[in-house]
Formats: sequence, structure tokens, C-alpha cells
Amino acid sequence: MNIEIRKEAQALHSYVVNLRKHFHQYPELSMEEWETSKRIQEELTEMGIPFTLAAETGVIGIIGSKGPVIALRADIDALKVEEQNEIVYKSCVPGVMHACGHDAHTAALIGAARILKAHEEELNCTVKLIFQPGEEVSRGAKMILEAGHLDHVEQIFGLHVFADIPVGYVNVEPGPRMAESDYFKITIKGRQGHAGKPQQCVDATVAAAAMVLNLQQIVSRETNPIDSAVVTIGYVQCGTVRNVIAGSAFLEGTVRTFSREEGRRIKNAVKRVAMGTAATYHATANVEYNLSAHPAVDNDLDVAEIAFAGAQKVFDEEAFLEVPKMMLGEDFSVYQQRVPGAFAFIGAGNEEMGRAYPNHHEKFNIDEDAVTNAVMMYLSYVQEYVNRKEAEAKGQKVEKKNSGQEGGLFARFQKLRKERERK
Ligand code: NI
Repeated sequence: MNIEIRKEAQALHSYVVNLRKHFHQYPELSMEEWETSKRIQEELTEMGIPFTLAAETGVIGIIGSKGPVIALRADIDALKVEEQNEIVYKSCVPGVMHACGHDAHTAALIGAARILKAHEEELNCTVKLIFQPGEEVSRGAKMILEAGHLDHVEQIFGLHVFADIPVGYVNVEPGPRMAESDYFKITIKGRQGHAGKPQQCVDATVAAAAMVLNLQQIVSRETNPIDSAVVTIGYVQCGTVRNVIAGSAFLEGTVRTFSREEGRRIKNAVKRVAMGTAATYHATANVEYNLSAHPAVDNDLDVAEIAFAGAQKVFDEEAFLEVPKMMLGEDFSVYQQRVPGAFAFIGAGNEEMGRAYPNHHEKFNIDEDAVTNAVMMYLSYVQEYVNRKEAEAKGQKVEKKNSGQEGGLFARFQKLRKERERK
């Protein structure tokens, strides 16, 4: 297979950027991506790519008909964030914004699909395009998996743009990459009354404030500093008006870890701290705790190496950046439970353009060169996979060494491979 990846992706730059702007302007919340889904279907129809629908608003396209099946995944949902960017393609939907760059993923996968479709004849495998809804609520991947869409898939590859990684950089490496993310809701019950008569009341606001602070001590004082963990309270609701002491309060938070075991330990601690703090203030607390619908994203060595080796043939040597694992959650890991997969990070930030706010920020935006880089990443992975399969079929030994790059990521791949061979 011989796609001139850089050239062909560059030629589609304005196409994918316009798509991304379109999706950005019309964001839709998780599991409600009806218009987004329609637009994806229209693009695939126009390219002559057959598709089926999955997980309600999800779309699964098929390119090729031969050999093994590999999957490329893009998530398509937006977030409950009010956009604060002043741009022509600013979100038209109040309170909803593509603040995590899934608009870029969707556009990039459509772009990659267009190029792959043009090379369908050379494709000795089948590529499944998974446009997945509901990533932000950890539902889409599970629904697609349960509907059997990964049953005959050999490998899966996905990616994510990050504005706190400068544009031009890409990353794919083996091992843990993103965290398991649990979440909880705490309802505090006190006794409502007059602001001037606290002695008659149980102030739920004060109990909630103390709880927010006390929960922060779990990571600081109870988890091993060598292990990574985060406890965040992202939502607090209490009270109605300044002269009434609140009789109830509500908190929502999330916990990030890299192991189920650690997740369970923190779960017990959250319950203990919440109830203990409430009791201190004569209030009560009810804790509803949900262990993550998805585990940590853990990249398979083989798939990561294929993606990395493919990308090395397309990107400059300086483009590869080592990026530490992140505390963000990603339901791509649900697929990895079933099939070997790798998840890449794409730099999208540009300080000079004022586009370096982190994902989920109300001013999040990307340097759109990242969309084309994402197209190139998808294609590099497919091309390398296809060419290795061809080489194997011809009985040629697949050259896994790449000259030029000595340290960094390349060294890590080599080290891990050696360790595995020794076992
Ligand atoms: Ni995201």
C-alpha cells in the first residue's frame, strides 16, 4: 500500500478544517449527537462508504472487504460548557461546546476515510471507522462493544488532541496512558432555617465546605505518593437565598487512578470522610459511588509500535514527544479490554494564537494543523499495518528497527520488546 500520507492529507487540509469548524459550531451533548451523526452519514454516503448505525447516534463505516479487520475510532460528543471564545465558528448552542476537541477527531476520521477510500484497491484488510457517541459519559464504547461491532476486529487505534501539547508534536507509546475515572454524588441533609438563628439549624453549606476540603486529604495522606491519584469535586450546590440557612447540599466529584485496587481504596475513604464530616456538623451524608465504567487506557505494545513505526515514516523526527500518562479518563479503554489497541496524543496548542487552554476549558481551542496531523496518524497506522501484513504474507521479515531515532520513545519500545522476549 502506498499512500503519500503527508501530501494527500495536506491536500485535504481545508476540507477537514471546515468540517471541524462545522462540528464546532453545532456541538451536541453525549448520546444526543443526532445532527453530528447525520452529517457523518452524509459524508460517508457521498464517498460511497457503506455504514451501519450503532449506539443510537454512532456510525460505523466500512472500507475494504479483504483480510483482517482493524478499527479506527473517533469520539463525536461535546460538553456542557459555555464557550467563551470570540470566533466566527463559536458554538451556536447555549451551554454546549466542543471543549474537548472531539470535533477535530470526527473531522480527522472523515478525512482519513476519504483518503483510504481512494486507495481501497490496495487495501488488503478491512478498516472499520467507528464514530462513537457518548465518550464523555462513558457509554458509547460499551454500547458499541456490546452490539458486537468489535467481534472480528484484530486491532483498534484511536487518538486525542490536547491543547496543552504544542501543535506539531505527536505521541504514541506503550503502557498506561490515561486513568480509570470513578465518580460519586454526595447528598448532605441538615436542617433549614433563618440565617439569623443558626442555633436552630444544621447548616448543610458549612458541612459541604468542610467536606470538600477534607476529601482533599485522601490523596495527600492516604495514598502512596508513588502512585498517581486525583480526587476532584467539580460540582457543589447548596442554598437558595442569602438569608436562609441551607437544609441540604449536593456534591459531585470524580476519582482518577491507574488501578482498580487503588480505586476501591479511595472509594472507602470517600465514604468514610463524607459521613464523618457530616456527623461533625450534625448533618448526614448519603454517598452514591460509581466505580468507573472504563478502566485505564493501557496501550498494547504491538499496536503502539505499529502506529509509532508508521508515524516515523510520515512525521519529522522532532515531532515525537514523550508525554507522561494523564489523569483524564477515556472510554477507549473499553475496546482495549476486548482487542489490542493503542491511543495516540496529538499536540494542538498554539500559545501565540491564544490556543493553549487545556481541554474542557471554556476558551479551549486548537491550532487546526492538529486536525491534519490526526489524519496523518490514522493513515500512518493503517498503512504500516497493511504493509507489515503484506510483508508477512510474502514471508519477509518485518524490519522493526528504525534508524535515526536513538533515544526517547524508540528506546522505550526496544526495551519493552526485549523484556517481553526474555519472558
Ligand atoms: Ni475527550
